[in-house]
Order: sequence, then structure tokens, then C-alpha cells
Amino acid sequence: MYMLLTVLCLSWAIADGSEWCYTGCVNTPSKWPEIEGGHCGGNRQSPINIVRTNVKKGEHLGNFTFVNFTSQEVFDNIVNTGETVKVNLKKMMEFQGGGLNGTYIPVQFHFHWGEYDDLHPGSEHLIDGKRYDMEMHIVSLKKGYSLEQALADPEGIAVLGLLIEANETMSKSEPWINLTSHIMNSTEAVNLTDAISISDLIGEVDLTRFYRYEGSLTTPMCNEAVIWTVFEEPIHVSADLLQLFSTITKITNIYRPEQDLKGRKVYASPSVKLPSAHEWCYDKHECDHGQELWYTLAHSFCGGTRQSPVDITSKDAMVNDLLNSFNFKNFDHKNAIDSVINTGHTVKCVLKDGLVEVSGGGLGHIYSVLQFHFHWADVSSDSRGSEHLLDSKRFPMEMHIVTKRKDLTLDEALMTGNGLAVLGFFIEMSDGTKSSNAEETPNHEESSQTTETKAWKLLSGYLSDIQEIGTEAKFTSEVSIDDLLGDVDRGSYYRYNGSLTTPSCNEAVVWTIFKQPIQVEQSLIQLFPTKMEYHNVYRSAQDLHDRTIYTSTAAASNLSTLLVVLLLTCAHVL
Ligand SMILES: *[C@@H]1O[C@H](CO)[C@@H](O)[C@H](O)[C@H]1NC(C)=O
Ligand SMILES: *[C@@H]1O[C@H](CO)[C@@H](O)[C@H](O)[C@H]1NC(C)=O
Ligand SMILES: *[C@@H]1O[C@H](CO)[C@@H](O)[C@H](O)[C@H]1NC(C)=O
Ligand SMILES: *[C@@H]1O[C@H](CO)[C@@H](O)[C@H](O)[C@H]1NC(C)=O
Ligand SMILES: *[C@@H]1O[C@H](CO)[C@@H](O)[C@H](O)[C@H]1NC(C)=O
Ligand SMILES: [Zn+2]
Ligand SMILES: [Zn+2]
Repeated sequence: MYMLLTVLCLSWAIADGSEWCYTGCVNTPSKWPEIEGGHCGGNRQSPINIVRTNVKKGEHLGNFTFVNFTSQEVFDNIVNTGETVKVNLKKMMEFQGGGLNGTYIPVQFHFHWGEYDDLHPGSEHLIDGKRYDMEMHIVSLKKGYSLEQALADPEGIAVLGLLIEANETMSKSEPWINLTSHIMNSTEAVNLTDAISISDLIGEVDLTRFYRYEGSLTTPMCNEAVIWTVFEEPIHVSADLLQLFSTITKITNIYRPEQDLKGRKVYASPSVKLPSAHEWCYDKHECDHGQELWYTLAHSFCGGTRQSPVDITSKDAMVNDLLNSFNFKNFDHKNAIDSVINTGHTVKCVLKDGLVEVSGGGLGHIYSVLQFHFHWADVSSDSRGSEHLLDSKRFPMEMHIVTKRKDLTLDEALMTGNGLAVLGFFIEMSDGTKSSNAEETPNHEESSQTTETKAWKLLSGYLSDIQEIGTEAKFTSEVSIDDLLGDVDRGSYYRYNGSLTTPSCNEAVVWTIFKQPIQVEQSLIQLFPTKMEYHNVYRSAQDLHDRTIYTSTAAASNLSTLLVVLLLTCAHVL
């Protein structure tokens, strides 16, 4: 009994005399971080918005084993605490599994809700930004722990979070009628003798489908001791029963606003069906279809014989006179970029329709530029994440300008051997910035900045606005593709027939890989993995099979080297 009272006091009331509330007092949620001795300003706070495209597959999250969840003798009493409605439990249940380390014993469950008159939703956790009508928290302590021990251990408490959705049409369920009939407007505990079990309340919810993350209590002192389980499916309860929580208690909007993830990962149990960004990934640990298994995806060409990227061996490249210079139309247009998108696999800059074109370069057709995007590795200073390799050397990044034959629709282009043309540029760290202490002389740095550096700064500035997967930002800066490419020699390149480097890997791409890399400052290169938080977004090199890689003749740098050599030779002879 003492234990139960302590739980009551510490988790819901005013442990050290600091008043807190949701509304109507000084310490509303935005002030909770200042409560003395509390943890509400910490780095693993709850609740959160669970953004499903950001969720990782948690192969380690096995099924739960629940003991006595169907027992109808486990409810002790129900109490209106003034902050919520809480049911204290006899310590007769336990659960383990579900990726938890150890066994946990439920001690109480309580509810969070919104506004009674219009059923304004009031769940604490959000899924893809959706707030459910209510949320039920089954608070459980690690077996053998006192409350103090549990609060002091980063995994001392496991809370099972069940979302509740109001259902107008469904017939009322007996257990919920029963439970809500005991909601009181006074704060005296009422003994519960009715035959209700936790399973009766949870009903049909599939308990193999859940999200997992490390968080905190959602009320002061917000102890960072909670391993959270939020089940994907909501419990359905009729709306008029749910209204009783607020109409009887006069308590409304008792949910804490969502907290910053601060770099935490949210995992989903294997039974959760995550949205399509997860159909494939680069690393097999992050989803079911890592790149080794892309060929098994529906409608996939990833197991074909003209796949990309490849390792280009420069000495084997065949000189081809047809690979003349390109015509770049509107590459100098300062407003051609429409938006920047975080796809979950890359940062993609989408161009305005039909504005920018490329032809010549032995392509034989006019191609419209659709978008450009990037491939990178990680945040380390020697990170290498280009897709193509040159003489087995990987560059820090690679930029792909994706174009489509102007005379074909996209669907047609994807099914035509030369329907798409991709211009690939290696990106290298520019010299002199690797160990620069330029910050000390910002003015000087500013004035000496090249157009190229300014363009990359402007572009990477958008990354902060699209950190959530699936988000996009309108591109409003004046930056042309020419600005980004700088003075790279665009007459000197390799050419081969290949594919898209992401599923469905359509073998529809005429590849152009420019020999000279674009120079970009290291700090800007690092912004991609830092802001996007996903790493190693490049496909490994594919077998050439019987393909030939061609090279343009006009290798300007080679030509000048040749001239110098000739001159030197002449001089020597003379
Ligand atoms: C968990 O339960 C689901 C549904 O009953 C089942 O399909 C799955 O195989 C189980 N997983 C494990 C690891 O036992
Ligand atoms: C489950 O309930 C039974 C009585 O109904 C009890 O004997 C048993 O100890 C309970 N199990 C646990 C783990 O508390
Ligand atoms: C599991 O819990 C025990 C104590 O309950 C702890 O000593 C151990 O470090 C934990 N293991 C992991 C992997 O967290
Ligand atoms: C509680 O409800 C009862 C009847 O439902 C009412 O008579 C009483 O005044 C209420 N008390 C408070 C404090 O609201
Ligand atoms: C690409 O394939 C087409 C059709 O098979 C062929 O005519 C062309 O020469 C190939 N180009 C290269 C660069 O291999
Ligand atoms: Zn709660
Ligand atoms: Zn690409």
C-alpha cells in the first residue's frame, strides 16, 4: 500500500512543492523544464510525434508475453487524482519480451484526454502528426525494483501506451461502461470489485504491432526512466463513454505537447507495415530489402546485366569521337530550381517543368532536366560516398542530374534503353578549407567566396528546413545549375549504358560521368549526412558484364599535359 501511495505522489502530484499543471497555473508545460530537481528539459523526453517514414525496423522487437492480462481480479481501486483518472493495480500481472530487457510489473494505468464538448483529441503521442482522442498508459516497474530504483534507472519503467479512438457507431462495450461508471468528481479512491481485465479494455488491438523508443514520464518530474511502447492500433470506445472522463471530472486537455526527438531513433516491431520509403534501403539492417535484395522487389530490374553504378577503369575506356560537347540550355537560369525534398534516401532538387535541357554530347536526343540529387556516406572527415568509382577510387559525394528524353513520357522513358540520361559529377573537398580557421575572418572569407561556394552554401542552407523525411521546401534563392557546377570541364567525360541506381533500377539510363570533380567545402559536404541523419546512401559497384565504357577525346587537361610533355621533350631535344 505504501508503494502504491508513493507511485501516486511521485508520478502525478507535487513531489517537492513545485506546482505544475497543463493550464491555469504558473508552471504550464513550457515551464516544466525549469521545475527544480526535475528532468523536463532533458534529452529523452516524452511524448513524441511518431513520424512513420523516420521509424526504423526493429528486428529485435519480438512478441510480448503477458501474464494475467486476462485476469479479472487485478484492479484495486480507481481514483480521480485531479490530474487524471487512474486505476491502481494489484501486483498480479507481468510482461516481458517485446524487445524489453527483463520483466515488468504493471502498477497503475491512467488516461490522457482533450476537451469534452467537441471531443477535441487529447492523446499524448501522435502518429504522423495525428492526435488520437485519448491515450491509456499502463505504467510498469522493472521486476524487483522499488519506485525509487525504477526512476533512477534508464529502463526502470516500461509504459504501454494505447491510443483510443472514439467510435460513434460501435455498440458500447461492457468493460468500458463498467469502468467509466466509476469515474468520480471527488478525489476519493473507489474500490473496484467488478470483473474487468486489462484484456477486456484493450479488446482486439494487435499487440504484436508497436513502436518503441526511450523516453520519460510525461508529467513532472519527467524522469528519463521510461522504455515506451506505443501500440499502432487504437482501442475503439464509444464517444459518449469517452466524454464521461471530462464531463464528470471537469478536467480537460491533459496532455503534454510533443517533445523534440533530439536524435533518438524510434523503432517499429516487425509486424508494423511501414510506408513505402521503407520498401527498400541501402543497409540490410535498416529494412527488409537492403541492396543485396533489391532484385527481389516487385517490378525490379535490379538484377539485370546493365546495372549502375560501376567502377570506371580509365585505361580501359575506349576513345569515341562521337562524344562531342554538350549544349546546356538554361543551366544558367537562376530560378530554375522549384523545390528541395528529403525523400528519405536523398536530397532531391526538383526543377521547374520543361525549362532546363541538355543535348549534344553524343546523346542523339534532346533531354529535359527533371531533378538533381546527391549520394553521400557519413559525417567523418574522410567520408566517401560517390556511387561511381574511378580506378577503384570513391569520391566524397556524387551529384546526379537526371534528365528524360523530351519526346517521351516518363513511363515510356523508363522502358526505353536511352529514355533517361544522367549527368554524374564527382564532388571533392575543396583545398584550403580542410584545416581553415576561416571563421575568424568572416569578412575576408565573404568577399573572397566564389559563386560556386555561395551557391553550395545557399543550397545546403535548405537542409535544415527538410530534416523530417518526406518534407519539402520551396527553393527561393537565386542559384543556377551552372553556379553549382562551377568551372568543371564539361567536355571531358566517360559514357556507358546503365540503369537507375535505386529501385526499380530501370535499365534506361545513358550515363555521363564527368572526369573533373566539383570542389565543395568540407563543412558543406558534411551538412548532408548531418542534417538528413541517414548515411551511406550509395549503391555498391555493379558488374560491367560485357559493357564498354567510352571516353570523350577532348580531355582538356590531358591535352594540355600532353602539350607540356611535348614542349619539354622538344626543349630537351634542342
Ligand atoms: C509474433 O506474433 C505474430 C502474430 O501472432 C506472428 O506472426 C509472429 O511470427 C510472431 N513473432 C515471433 C518472433 O514469434
Ligand atoms: C496470476 O494470477 C494468479 C491468480 O489468479 C496468481 O496465482 C499468480 O501469481 C499471478 N501471476 C503473477 C505473475 O503474478
Ligand atoms: C538488463 O537489465 C539488467 C538489470 O535489470 C542490467 O544489469 C543489464 O545491463 C541490462 N542489459 C542491457 C543490455 O541493457
Ligand atoms: C459531484 O457530482 C455530484 C453528482 O454527480 C454533485 O452533486 C456534486 O456537487 C459534484 N461535486 C463537485 C465537487 O463537483
Ligand atoms: C548503348 O546501347 C545502344 C543500344 O544497344 C547502343 O547503340 C549504344 O552504342 C550503347 N552506348 C554505349 C555508350 O555503350
Ligand atoms: Zn500518462
Ligand atoms: Zn542518383
